[in-house]
Amino acid sequence: MSDPTDLTDVNVDLATQEILLAASQHDIPKLRSLVRSNDSAANPANVKDPETGFSPLHAAIAACEPDEDDVAVNGAPNGETPKPEQAENTALQTGVATVKFLLQEGAIWNDLDLNDETPGCLAKRLGLEELYEMIVDAGVRAELLLNRLDGYEEIEDEDMEEEEEAEAKAVEGDEAPELVDAGTEVVEVAETETQESGPDVTNPRYLDSNLQFQNDRLLDQDQNGVMMAWESDIMAKSARKLLPTTGLRVLNVGHGMGIVDGFLQEKSPAEHHIIEAHPDVVVEMKRKGWHEKPGVTIHEGKWQDVIPALVGEGVMFDAIYYDTFAESYSDFREFFTEQVIGLLEQEGRWSFFNGMGADRQISYDVYQKVVEMDLFEAGFEVEWEEIKVPTLEGEWTGVRRPYWNIDSYRLPLCKYMD
Ligand SMILES: C[S@@+](CC[C@H](N)C(=O)[O-])C[C@H]1O[C@@H](n2cnc3c(N)ncnc32)[C@H](O)[C@@H]1O
Repeated sequence: MSDPTDLTDVNVDLATQEILLAASQHDIPKLRSLVRSNDSAANPANVKDPETGFSPLHAAIAACEPDEDDVAVNGAPNGETPKPEQAENTALQTGVATVKFLLQEGAIWNDLDLNDETPGCLAKRLGLEELYEMIVDAGVRAELLLNRLDGYEEIEDEDMEEEEEAEAKAVEGDEAPELVDAGTEVVEVAETETQESGPDVTNPRYLDSNLQFQNDRLLDQDQNGVMMAWESDIMAKSARKLLPTTGLRVLNVGHGMGIVDGFLQEKSPAEHHIIEAHPDVVVEMKRKGWHEKPGVTIHEGKWQDVIPALVGEGVMFDAIYYDTFAESYSDFREFFTEQVIGLLEQEGRWSFFNGMGADRQISYDVYQKVVEMDLFEAGFEVEWEEIKVPTLEGEWTGVRRPYWNIDSYRLPLCKYMD
C-alpha cells in the first residue's frame, strides 16, 4: 500500500502533467527545460497521461485540432479576432515544431493511447496530414535503423551493438517495436500494441502445427488465419500482373489455399513451380491433383532450402510471387536481396503479398516506405496499384486476430532497375 505522506507519486504526476501541458501549448522552451532537467531513467518525452494515455506527442497533435471557441475567447495577439484559418495555421506551425522537437528527444512514434490510437492515427483522424507524414517518417527512420541493427548484430562486438541500440532508441523512443504476426503473412510490424494472449506465431511453430482447411479459410492450430478467401481479388490481380501473356515460366512461394496458383494456371504457364513448406498443405495439394496440372512442379520444403538448389540447377523464371506465413520482415528482405536475383530473368517481374502492418494504416504506410527503400537498395523499382478491400465485418469470427484493418491494398509489382 502506498504511504499517503509520500509525496513522490504526487511529484511524478505533477511532472507528467507539466510536460503534457507544455506539449499541448507547443511551448518548446518549457519542454526543453523539462525534458533536459529530468534525471530519472525514463525518457520524459514519453510520459503518459493516466486518464487518456496521451503521450506528449499525442498532446501536441491534439492541440492542433481547430477549435473555433478558443479563437473567439482568446483573440489574436494584436487584439483583433483572428480568422479561424489563421489560428489553425499558427497552431499547425507551432505543432509541427513541437512534434519535431519531441521526436528529436526520442518520443516514441507509435505509442498507443487509451483510445488505441498512435500519435499518427490521431493526426490522421483530425485531418492533420503534415503531422501525419512527420510521424510516418519518424516510423520509417526507426524501422530502418532497427532492421539494420538486426543485420549487424552477428558481426559486431558488444560495445558497438550497445552504441547502435542507444542510437535506435534515440530515434524511436524507449521501446523497441514488438514483433507481431502481421496477422498472417509476413512480417515485422512496428507497434507497441498489446498482443492478444496466446503463443507467438513463429515459422517453426507454424510448420509443426496441424492445419484446418475450411471452405473459405486456412487456419493453423492456434486459429491464426493463414489464408482467407476474401484475398481472392488481390490474388487474381497479382497473377494477372505477373503473367500478362501465356507460356511464361512462374514460381510461386507459398501455396496456402492455392488461390493464386489457380489464377496463374489460367495463364497456361510453360512452367509453374510451387514451393511449399507445410506438410499438410502438400498433402492437400496432392489430394487436389496439383502435381498433375500442366507445367506444375511442386518443391516440398522451405524456400530457404529449395531456392539454392534451383539456382544451382540454373532454373530461371519470368515471374515470381512470394506469400508465406509467420516469417519476419528480415526473412522477406533476405528473399529479395539474396534470392530473387538468382532466379529472375532480366526482363522478369515479381510481386509479394503486401500485408505488412495492415492492421493499422500508419504501420502500413511506414512499411510501404521501408520496403520501397530496401527494394531500391536491392536493385528493384516498384509500382503500386491501390485496390479497394471490401468490408471484412463477419470475416473474423473464429480467427484469432483480424490481420487486415485498412481500406485499401497496395499491390506491388517489382522489376529490376534499368
Ligand atoms: C498465406 S499462405 C499463401 C496463400 C496463397 N497465396 C494463396 O493464394 O492461397 C502462405 C503459405 O506459405 C507457406 N510457407 C510458410 N513458410 C514457408 C517457407 N519458409 N517456405 C515455403 N512456404 C512457406 C505456408 O505453409 C502457406 O501454405
